[in-house]
Amino acid sequence: MSDILIDHADGVLTLTLNRVEKKNAFTQAMYTTLADALDAAATDATTRVVVIQGHATVFSAGNDLRDFLSGPPISGDGASPVQRFIAAMAQFPKPVLAAVCGPAVGIGTTMLFHCDLVYAGDNAAFSMPFVNLGLCPEAGSSLLAPRLMGYHRAAEALLMGEPFMAEAALEVGLINRIVPPTEANALAQTQARKLAAKPSASVIETKRLLKQSQAAEVTQRIAEEFSSFGRMLQAPAAREAIAAFTEKRRPDFSGL
Ligand code: COA
Repeated sequence: MSDILIDHADGVLTLTLNRVEKKNAFTQAMYTTLADALDAAATDATTRVVVIQGHATVFSAGNDLRDFLSGPPISGDGASPVQRFIAAMAQFPKPVLAAVCGPAVGIGTTMLFHCDLVYAGDNAAFSMPFVNLGLCPEAGSSLLAPRLMGYHRAAEALLMGEPFMAEAALEVGLINRIVPPTEANALAQTQARKLAAKPSASVIETKRLLKQSQAAEVTQRIAEEFSSFGRMLQAPAAREAIAAFTEKRRPDFSGL
């Protein structure tokens, strides 16, 4: 079974994260599949709305930490799988809906800043633990989190890296609605079909106008973050954090 399930019906492209045994941690292959699907959907007239969803128990544990070691995930030309995926999300012209239940770690949360509507199970737990991994924010989150949540809440989320639950995410405006976990994917599908039935040109123009004031800034910040992220990934703190994860122990950052 593929790690990304792709379904197309009623104008809605649904991308389901399907690596539940590894908590839907993103591999480079998964980013490539998602980026390819989004790139094709951007110009495919039969796709009017995209839904990204996970499982009722988990949205995503973020980047696969073992995959980080198998090859540099960031390339200077911006063409690595994760860079392609984030660019596709940030620039996607049609509505993207997400259904999030359980843990949404790292890019599992930061990708939501690029979604238009987010529905969450009451078990959703959002976290951006980049500092705990010796890394820094990505996907434009250093710009978009403070803009959405206010500086101090964004600083707490990005510096402390602790999870915040669905109620807190609703309060800061990261998500639209909280439902029982078994209903999140169905709600996203219902809303997606409602949107897909609306006049496509109006929907696309509305999204463009909503996003245009910060589009260039977001692109620039994403590039700046990836540059730092790629450098920090090679540094001792991240090496220690990833080794600790694979060895199932606490990291030791003393002296780092
Ligand atoms: N990369 C690689 N493998 C991961 C992973 C990740 N980001 N997250 C989870 N997994 C794997 C675990 O190693 C484990 O594999 P195993 O069964 O072969 O040992 C399996 O998925 C289940 O994970 P587990 O930690 O036992 O599940 P849990 O329900 O106790 O906890 C999380 C879920 C998401 C809270 C926890 O897995 C976690 O914190 N993961 C790391 C998140 C992270 O730091 N992501 C990077 C952000 S940049």
